[in-house]
Amino acid sequence: MINHWTLQQFRLFEAVARHQSYTRAAEELCLTQPAVHIQVKRLEESMGLSLIEVVGKKILLTRAGKEVLAVALAVRSQLNALSGTLTDIKGKVAGPLHIGVVTTAQFFTPHFLGQFLRDYPDVRPLLKVANREQIVERLSANEDDLVIMGQVPDNIALSVHPFMDNILEPIAHPEHPMAGQRDISLETFAAERFLMRESGSGTRSATERLFARHGLKPSIYMELGSSESIKQAVMAGLGVSVQSTSSLALEKETGRIVALDVVGFPLRRMWHAVHLKGKHLSLTAATFLEYLAREGPKFGAR
Ligand code: PGA
Repeated sequence: MINHWTLQQFRLFEAVARHQSYTRAAEELCLTQPAVHIQVKRLEESMGLSLIEVVGKKILLTRAGKEVLAVALAVRSQLNALSGTLTDIKGKVAGPLHIGVVTTAQFFTPHFLGQFLRDYPDVRPLLKVANREQIVERLSANEDDLVIMGQVPDNIALSVHPFMDNILEPIAHPEHPMAGQRDISLETFAAERFLMRESGSGTRSATERLFARHGLKPSIYMELGSSESIKQAVMAGLGVSVQSTSSLALEKETGRIVALDVVGFPLRRMWHAVHLKGKHLSLTAATFLEYLAREGPKFGAR
């Protein structure tokens, strides 16, 4: 006979018992009073016992009715718990998170990921570090969930989310003659052996724009393809350069690289998390994006 019981009958019976009224139970469930009555009657018939006694105008539960009510309440609470569990499963922040980053962002992105993974250990991050040109290609081809870059291309329709300051400063070896000097002019700086990033680099174009605004062009001594190679060349004493502070924490802390006091610097820009406009973000990617927006300003202030 269990086969004939339905969840709906338990639901209706529970409402009648709670309201002690067929009419109020019917109102709550948006049904007619006879419809509720019929279903409760069917439940009673299939159980072979009365569940409700009407005494005068009062609705009372029989002993069997009290037993059925206890089960109906337990079933309801189990179903509610199940519904929550299903929502969690559907909405779980987990699985792959593809992030493409320009070389300068490789110095901080892992730290964001480290913190994020402590909260969401089931996320599997896949980090692609490449120069800006390659990252822009990946962005156009929609290869990553999110891309982290400084200078955003203006020829692709994008959703752009700035999340942290990107401050560019002039740098040199600590024994460079300009180290410790005050108010170095842009002309003097531009005449130094300049270590320049590859063309297409956001750092490079921001630096060139600053010089160009003052009618200057740095004398490029060497061109290097990543921010890491620029840092190594500066530490080797090969020349001066301009680099995002986000990439210099360790070298400045250990005194291997120093910032120069050049008029017109630092350059203030932003780091952006970017994806194609209209792209559907996975819950994991959307959660990481929110996380960057929340934590980026704190991280940048460190
Ligand atoms: P880059 O990007 O590594 O390509 O220079 C950083 C930036 O745009 O600031």
